[in-house]
Amino acid sequence: MLHALSIETEDNKTGIQHALLTRLRRLKWLAAYKKSIVFMALFGIVIATVNMAYTPKSNSLPLDLTSKKMLIKKDMRVAYLSRHIGTTEDFTYMAEHLGLTNVTYHQKDLPPLGIRRNEYKEKALEPPYDSVCEDNDAVFVSDDLLVGWPLVMPPKICKNLFFIITNRFDYMASGGEKDIYHQDMERAINRRTDPAKFIINNPFEYNYLLSRNVFPEEPPQLIRPFGFSGIQDQKIPMDDINLPCLIINRVSQDGQLLSNLVKEKSGVECKILGTKYGGPKTLAKYKSIVVHIPYQVATMKMWENLAYGTLMAIPSPEFMTQICEENDCPQDRDVFETKNVIDPPEEWYKYVDFYLPEWSRCFIQFGSWSQLSDILKNRDYLADVEYCENRMIEAREQNLNSWAEVFYNITLNLESSNS
Ligand SMILES: *[C@@H]1O[C@H](CO)[C@@H](O)[C@H](O)[C@H]1NC(C)=O
Ligand SMILES: *[C@@H]1O[C@H](CO)[C@@H](O)[C@H](O)[C@H]1NC(C)=O
Repeated sequence: MLHALSIETEDNKTGIQHALLTRLRRLKWLAAYKKSIVFMALFGIVIATVNMAYTPKSNSLPLDLTSKKMLIKKDMRVAYLSRHIGTTEDFTYMAEHLGLTNVTYHQKDLPPLGIRRNEYKEKALEPPYDSVCEDNDAVFVSDDLLVGWPLVMPPKICKNLFFIITNRFDYMASGGEKDIYHQDMERAINRRTDPAKFIINNPFEYNYLLSRNVFPEEPPQLIRPFGFSGIQDQKIPMDDINLPCLIINRVSQDGQLLSNLVKEKSGVECKILGTKYGGPKTLAKYKSIVVHIPYQVATMKMWENLAYGTLMAIPSPEFMTQICEENDCPQDRDVFETKNVIDPPEEWYKYVDFYLPEWSRCFIQFGSWSQLSDILKNRDYLADVEYCENRMIEAREQNLNSWAEVFYNITLNLESSNS
């Protein structure tokens, strides 16, 4: 109830409520003061005098974001569990920009990828699992969420536990164990005491949860990645700057299938970059575009590329379906999982972030090979690079605001359990 705080609750002031009220009163005076200056300029000294004596009439005070940000307990102890560098960088960006001062990152001390339930069960008794909840005020798990499984195995109750879903919450669960994992998750998010929470970085994850019988009480908070990368740029050959297109050889669907198709059907040869190509700051040195067949509904990289100034060309939903019907797309399973989950299946692409209508100038669709050929020859997309970078600056700010709400809620939660 604290978020719906009103001045009248002053009687039972405790901890944060008190601090909050004091600060808010200060803010309110500041606001009143600023207001009075404007009035002064407009209506002269008489009105100003009246206004200086202004006393707030309304009893309840909607808490604006600035106040919430101020009230976040910056030194709360936060643990972050992820094996993946990209998601960790994203969380680091957030923590630094919100001013969180006590975040512990767990990566190297997490168990290896692909272990089974029994092993996770044993791990629950070892570091970091044995004490990570007790030693922290909030715990976040990301990427392969099975690393958080020991924290939801009954009878464990971990307070302020968040799962940040970046690609299917059960991604690494092996077939026979999926059901029991789903049940552990369902129980954890719907228990009365300190329910665990999901945060999703693309909208498909919510539909997927439902399809696996995990029913959050409310749709999880959607917060997209910041598109931040700490990877140092590399030098590129001068002659490469104006290449017609780039293909990143992270999966064979791009490195082999797509590069061959582009060469054959569009008559253009793209430069193939290996996995250690140097990240988005290196990509940005090419005045070029990355051609890609989506293998996920969303990736961290797609936002990084835009943020540092590289746009992407992708087949339109219909054309992508056609390409993968005519050829064997080796890595289309995750992106087309939408067709199994979304109802009606024709709307699958609405749950793939590459196809977000409001980003269509940044993720440029081609409906045929000749259309791709035109895009690569005309290079009109270069005129949109700055627009997309600016959109990312705006999006980062919104994402940070959403995170601020998350940490403000945790702050309230900590206060209410302390009092
Ligand atoms: C972080 O939390 C730990 C555990 O409570 C504490 O020992 C440490 O002093 C804190 N560090 C900072 C920088 O606040
Ligand atoms: C914060 O808590 C309020 C009240 O429980 C809830 O409505 C809101 O969705 C929460 N916000 C986030 C970002 O979790």
